Amino acid sequence: PIVACVLAGGIGSRLYPASRSDRPKQFLGFGGERSLLSRTMDRTAFADERYVLTRDSFVDDIHEHAPEAGVLVEPDGKDTGPALVYAAWRLRERFDREPVLVCLPSDHNVTDDAAFAARLERAAEIAAETDGLVTLGVEPTRPATGYGYIVPERSEFGERGDFGVVDHFTEKPDHENATELLESGAYWNAGIFAWTPGALLREARDSPLAPLVDALEDGDPERGFDAVEAVSVDYAIMERATDVFVTPLSVEWDDLGTWDAVGRVLETSADDDAENDTVAGDVLAIDATNNVVATPDSHVSLLEVDELIVAAFDDRILVAPRGASQQVRDVVSRLRERD
Ligand code: GDD
Ligand code: MG
Repeated sequence: PIVACVLAGGIGSRLYPASRSDRPKQFLGFGGERSLLSRTMDRTAFADERYVLTRDSFVDDIHEHAPEAGVLVEPDGKDTGPALVYAAWRLRERFDREPVLVCLPSDHNVTDDAAFAARLERAAEIAAETDGLVTLGVEPTRPATGYGYIVPERSEFGERGDFGVVDHFTEKPDHENATELLESGAYWNAGIFAWTPGALLREARDSPLAPLVDALEDGDPERGFDAVEAVSVDYAIMERATDVFVTPLSVEWDDLGTWDAVGRVLETSADDDAENDTVAGDVLAIDATNNVVATPDSHVSLLEVDELIVAAFDDRILVAPRGASQQVRDVVSRLRERD
């Protein structure tokens, strides 16, 4: 069986102040009427069973946004590494035959759902054929520092021509390394994976998540989560795993995890004569261009400013230059220290 595991336990701190710890990005719409999570569910309809992985405090929201899915609750929010290992262990127990898990984030924007789902299904086949970890690779268009990069072993792909062996995986390189990776023909990691529980647990045993695997085998997930640091699956497992394969995802795709990304996918707003990307809200712009403005409840006037992010939600306002959107999470951690 193919089992979809949708990751929806992050707090989305880079989209502050739209995304708050009690209302993270996956439950927001960003221009679309439906939430990112509910749109993600549309792309997993081919799976035999579907689960959303999350933390305790989001369970009610998940039932609302993904009523068709089962919910797997991690003992603690420790990023995607522990979450995916936990899911592999729980789901392996549920089936007589080893399932293939298709794991995907809930912060992506995809236009062609059918083509996307077809690639996911194919990734599941490759995972079953190879018994390795399969990642979906996107052709990069700029040296983004917010993504992982996948360097294939050969530029030529195997027999079916649609997947190859991964030489190495580099999570979130700095600008210089990202530029080199881009030039060397690397793919962006879409953060979408297919594997059997057996393959993931095998690689996890040989990673910083080994104490978690041991505790799971002892039937004690809480102890396992206490024994490991918060770490994404990319750093914990993908960067060091041996049997990794990549298959290209050639559909329009974007991670909506930052304000820059939100600005990139939005239509330029109609009601100001300058070119600004408006998520929602009433904006007056005079000699102001290329700003990302998200102000559903307040009016914002922009005068002679360019390349800014202006986001006002509830009683919180963020102003930052475009390009700094990865660092917005630093604002959130500073605010948390202060409160
Ligand atoms: N269940 C659960 N538990 N989900 C989590 C947790 C957690 O502790 N932390 C994050 N998530 C969810 C988020 O809600 C999101 O849907 C997904 O996991 C990915 O987390 P992000 O925080 O958005 O990751 P990223 O965008 O920085 O990086 C990943 O995705 C990129 C592509 O979108 C990496 O895989 C990169 O390599 C990749 O390029
Ligand atoms: Mg993301």
